[in-house]
Amino acid sequence: MSTTLISGGTVISATGRQLIDVLIDGESIVALIEPGSATFGADLAGSVDEVIDATGKYVIPGGVDAHTHMQMPFGGTTASDTFETGTRAAAFGGTTTIVDFAIQTPGQRLQDTLAQWHEKAAGNCAIDYGFHQIVGDVNDESISAMGELITEGVTSFKLFMAYPGVYYSNDGQILRAMQKSADTGALMMMHAENGIAIDELVSQHLKRGETSPYYHGVSRPWQLEEEATHRAIMLADVTGAPLYVVHVSARQALEQIATARGRGANVFAETCPQYLYLSLEEQLGAPGFEGAKWVCSTPLRSRAEGHQDELWKFIRTGDVAGVATDHCPFCMVDQKELGISDFSKIPNGIGGVEHRLDLMYQGVVDGRISLERWVEVCATTPARMFGMYPRKGVISPGADADVVVYDPNGHTSIGVDKTHHMNMDYSAWEGFEIDGAVDTVLSRGKKIVERRTYLGSRADGQFVRRELSQNLI
Ligand code: URP
Ligand code: ZN
Ligand code: ZN
Ligand code: ZN
Repeated sequence: MSTTLISGGTVISATGRQLIDVLIDGESIVALIEPGSATFGADLAGSVDEVIDATGKYVIPGGVDAHTHMQMPFGGTTASDTFETGTRAAAFGGTTTIVDFAIQTPGQRLQDTLAQWHEKAAGNCAIDYGFHQIVGDVNDESISAMGELITEGVTSFKLFMAYPGVYYSNDGQILRAMQKSADTGALMMMHAENGIAIDELVSQHLKRGETSPYYHGVSRPWQLEEEATHRAIMLADVTGAPLYVVHVSARQALEQIATARGRGANVFAETCPQYLYLSLEEQLGAPGFEGAKWVCSTPLRSRAEGHQDELWKFIRTGDVAGVATDHCPFCMVDQKELGISDFSKIPNGIGGVEHRLDLMYQGVVDGRISLERWVEVCATTPARMFGMYPRKGVISPGADADVVVYDPNGHTSIGVDKTHHMNMDYSAWEGFEIDGAVDTVLSRGKKIVERRTYLGSRADGQFVRRELSQNLI
């Protein structure tokens, strides 16, 4: 087993920052060595296999992206990143663990769909990966199968209040699945939008000839996200299920979550960088068919209504627990173009697995969040909430040596011709400039990225069998 010393850097955790060296043996962190101690820095350098000089840089736990969709079938096409291309792009951006979604659609056995996702991912991932299970057909059989999946390390389940006829669950089905989650301790994840009302608005817009991507946003108003979020919280209240609302974009939905948390409810929110930076007016409203690049659900919200700034605020207050990408990339050619004359046929999703750490670091530079909060929402809390802590999400003896050296004096220009390794023919983040850069990425002790060069190999990543979270409240 080889040993590595990360020397001279400032280790950032969710609770503080400290100038301290990190000693890695094989796949694990084995010691943190304080300045002034006999073995600090140079003293140890001769006795380890490799020294990474992190002087002037931050040393942070590898990013944990708890929401991705590699090669996900959607709307007659398939998300353009495979597990191979998507996890490699994630590695470039300093993410060392993803949790992807296995998807059950009506008529399928839950266990079979999980097996399919294992097959797609095994041997193809650059970084470690786990699975959530989407339950798209809540019935006796799938509820019973949820228990089985938990024993296999799949400890969280996603339901949809949107997409009637595809993944949609009605309130009775949600209630039943939540009862199971309350019984078992599994985390219930919710896509909270009122899909029945949305589908009606969609057909009304189309009938009026309002077919451009902008109307994707207009047909999914914040009221229908707030309403569904409130309903999900109430159903969770009735059943006692822990609830994690995914990809929250409306400030009013977050207010519902914050209010529920204020009275002690076991409810958590996730948001994504696109909802913090992009908007209905600027992106979905771009000329011609350009807006299709940013069609995702929940949709980008109006900047005039102030959602973006409020979301940053809720990251500071702690009501947003984690930031994930909801990485679900589709190319413009042949994929987004399916909806050129009908926005409802544009496959939903934005690619961004590569850029989350950078985009959230820019929030530190801009004075919106602290370094500690950056690490907490990008790594520590997702690891903890999804049963991977303290193996992931923290720099501490015994943890996997998933480590990112981040250079605050570096610079990252995002664009398809620049820093772009996702399998997409455009970047949703074209032109974004980040005042920092990922320098070195280690995954379980192996250096997989160094100054924008990939050093890993296709099968480095392993399946992470997740525990039930013991510590949600
Ligand atoms: O638009 C999105 N978010 N696509 C991925 C599927 C989902 O609902 O998370
Ligand atoms: Zn969703
Ligand atoms: Zn989504
Ligand atoms: Zn998603």
